[in-house]
Amino acid sequence: MGIKFERVDFKYQGIDNKGYLALSDIVLNINPTGEFITLIGETGSGKSTLVQHMNALLTPTGGTVTIFGVKINQEIKKKKKVKLNPIRKQVGLVFQFPEYQLFEETVLKDVMFGPKNYGISHNEAIKKAKEAIDIVGLDDSYLERSPFNLSGGEKKRVSIAGILAMEPDILILDEPTSGLDPLGKESLLGVFNEIHQRTNKTIIIITHDMNTVYNYAKRVLVMREGTLVYDGSPQALFSRSNIDNWNLDVPDILTLTKALETRLNITIHPAPKNKEQLLNRLKEVLT
Ligand SMILES: Nc1ncnc2c1ncn2[C@@H]1O[C@H](COP(=O)(O)OP(=O)(O)OP(=O)(O)O)[C@@H](O)[C@H]1O
Ligand SMILES: [Mg+2]
Repeated sequence: MGIKFERVDFKYQGIDNKGYLALSDIVLNINPTGEFITLIGETGSGKSTLVQHMNALLTPTGGTVTIFGVKINQEIKKKKKVKLNPIRKQVGLVFQFPEYQLFEETVLKDVMFGPKNYGISHNEAIKKAKEAIDIVGLDDSYLERSPFNLSGGEKKRVSIAGILAMEPDILILDEPTSGLDPLGKESLLGVFNEIHQRTNKTIIIITHDMNTVYNYAKRVLVMREGTLVYDGSPQALFSRSNIDNWNLDVPDILTLTKALETRLNITIHPAPKNKEQLLNRLKEVLT
């Protein structure tokens, strides 16, 4: 089942009645389990708009999105009310800007909101919230603080905890590590990776960081001007020459490999996925 896009268009309504076509003819299938996807592309290419279709926050203006068997399109919107609550519980979306998500008086109340809203007891919601707050790397001293008086990175962590606490089947994170320091970034990516390894849940991360793409993703989606221009493995993406046209950086490990090849006049093939593989290849070649 999972999430299926069938020829999806999305137009933001403008004041001039012309609107702005942010998504065009998207065809895409996402499996309900087992995927670790990164979604990349230039600023304004439609990444955030695309993921807001994955839990029915936005309704396509053309085509259909089917989320765990529930069809979302213009005809259905007109005809009857579709129950969106189960979808929002199944597909958890962490917004790019935490301010859009945080609203309660305290961090604890904010993180509890999701699980409570989906029918578990008050005490169970407190337990789930505390666990999630701990997982994202915040200690108990944050529980009674206002989410609005936190730093950008702390707000980000609270908004992630709020979605983790709901235990969605599919977890989507819109630039979860932007604004975090390098250590915080790695530890959060480790958290998402650990959830994926332990539960086999599908995880989708929007990022501008090619190291994240190369180190973690099994599948990469590239958006460009509202269309999906690539859907495949990171290894194949970075071996293509047209990444220049898509304004993408090259992961550090590949830049380093290339520099070593030139400096030492050797060929390292296939391209290493991480530092350990690079070291092993170097040992093979040089000894
Ligand atoms: N509420 C809105 N009304 C009108 N146009 C919008 C709205 N939100 C986004 N857009 C436009 O739609 C396009 C896609 O925006 P979107 O936020 O999906 O891009 P993005 O790929 O997530 O970019 P970024 O990397 O900067 O987050 C942009 O050109 C943007 O200006
Ligand atoms: Mg965005």
